[in-house]
Amino acid sequence: MTINIKKCTLKDLRKLQEISYETFNETFKHQNSPENMNAYLERAFNLKQLEKELSNVSSQFFFVYLNNEVAGYLKVNINDAQSEEMGDESLEIERIYIKKKFQKHGLGKYLLNKAMEIAMERNKKKIWLGVWEKNENAIAFYKKMGFVQTGAHSFYMGDEEQMDYIMTKTLR
Ligand SMILES: CC(C)(COP(=O)(O)OP(=O)(O)OC[C@H]1O[C@@H](n2cnc3c(N)ncnc32)[C@H](O)[C@@H]1OP(=O)(O)O)[C@@H](O)C(=O)NCCC(=O)NCCS
Repeated sequence: MTINIKKCTLKDLRKLQEISYETFNETFKHQNSPENMNAYLERAFNLKQLEKELSNVSSQFFFVYLNNEVAGYLKVNINDAQSEEMGDESLEIERIYIKKKFQKHGLGKYLLNKAMEIAMERNKKKIWLGVWEKNENAIAFYKKMGFVQTGAHSFYMGDEEQMDYIMTKTLR
């Protein structure tokens, strides 16, 4: 089993859109209406939006490969790219998604460790993220990785207001 990680560039735009759609659908389709799913996918993952995010110097995307196949991706934000005003001493994990068939093989942990490495290199004090209150699988994973709930914020899936827990891991 060979695991590799690669930082995404603008050349990866379409591949990024593909995996974003696929993993978001796999994760949330069964708990949301098709209308709300489509509205979210179209807003968050259109090519123009993803291109803008890939070009932001305060954001980084990574693909994780298992035996040369893209198995998942990570998006981290610092400074103003963070989706909440958490300040310069924080790093946000905005997206961490492993395709269903590759889950529970240690790849999520591998990406999370990559985020920790970036945070420590940049002398950040904490890592934080928002996770839907109904996403029990991800919440259990984050708890296992040492995150604790420190707040909540609302989030729009199409026209439906949903609650995200904010979870944080202190680094120093
Ligand atoms: C959440 C997610 C990233 C975890 O990745 P993964 O590759 O399945 O998890 P890993 O195999 O790396 O697990 C790492 C550790 O967490 C534990 N873990 C993973 N899922 C768990 C769960 N549901 N309950 C308890 N422990 C869990 C593993 O047992 C493992 O423990 P170990 O270090 O003692 O061996 C992945 O399931 C995923 O992409 N889910 C769908 C997308 C999603 O919900 N993303 C988060 C949006 S906020």
